[in-house]
Amino acid sequence: MTATVRVTAPAKINLHLEVLGQRPDGFHELAMVMQSIDLADELECSNSADGLIQLSCDQPGLSCGSDNLITRAAELLRQRSGFNELGAHIHLSKRIPIGAGLAGGSSDGAGTLIALNTLWGLGHTQEELRTLAAELGSDMPFCLTGGIQLCFGRGETLESVQAGADSLGVVLVKDPTVSVSTPWAYGECRRLKGDQYLIDEEAFAERRQLLRESSWLHPVRSVVPPPLRNDLQDVVAPKTPSVQRGIGLLQELPGQLRTAMSGSGPSCFALFQNRADADRALDGALDQFERAGLTAWSCSFLGHGAKLLS
Ligand code: C5P
Repeated sequence: MTATVRVTAPAKINLHLEVLGQRPDGFHELAMVMQSIDLADELECSNSADGLIQLSCDQPGLSCGSDNLITRAAELLRQRSGFNELGAHIHLSKRIPIGAGLAGGSSDGAGTLIALNTLWGLGHTQEELRTLAAELGSDMPFCLTGGIQLCFGRGETLESVQAGADSLGVVLVKDPTVSVSTPWAYGECRRLKGDQYLIDEEAFAERRQLLRESSWLHPVRSVVPPPLRNDLQDVVAPKTPSVQRGIGLLQELPGQLRTAMSGSGPSCFALFQNRADADRALDGALDQFERAGLTAWSCSFLGHGAKLLS
């Protein structure tokens, strides 16, 4: 019998992205605070028994082949189940910009794990899904859980944080013609800052502890959130004019509290005390963003990651 489920797959922003050093596996050791926002893709998945994973998408430029994290997540889940006949039709309604530093692809992959675990009746626990997610991408475990989390290791090791009482507002901007390759951004970071990397576990542990104690993670937020930090911004912005334009315009918005690039870019965001302030600031600056070639969104912090809608 065919059944259908829908999942929402929210984007994330990085409130803190600190590159600690290089790992023996070639990845970077990170200390991050990630936060889900209510800009989300949606997946509609139906099961089949023909062993085929078929993906379609409402955005013509996006590959629906075996390189898409949705297909890779479905294939991995099926392979581990040992049931080769499991199949699925998946339709992606894409809202999160691609190659933006917002983990849109990882969130779609996380949503796929949740949808197919249900549709195929596999009964994996959240912990088992997190282990599968970590095999597929460093950001994917966060996208399964979402909300606000400390993310260590490659980004896949989560520590939960008590969310603040208020949901801050966000104005997000991105040049639709520009995307940044994550491997390139980390490669640039290594080239330009590699000689400042910390080298041992003791030094990593010290930085992790400092981040745990930072004021992002206190339940009652102060009036102005603490400074944002993104170590990749220093290496990506000089080579990406749209990031410089975005940050410049965001910093001029009335009511903005903090501004930074997200992930490996090129999307940038400003934080506001609440969603209404973000809406107002965006309304007043739409023309400016358009003239600068930037698409802009107003969003809110969100308390969850990918999840079933029906
Ligand atoms: O894990 P993910 O597939 O998202 O990583 C993409 C690329 O980003 C990696 O191949 C690596 O070049 C870089 N990366 C890194 N350190 C991390 C995460 C990603 O160097 N912690």
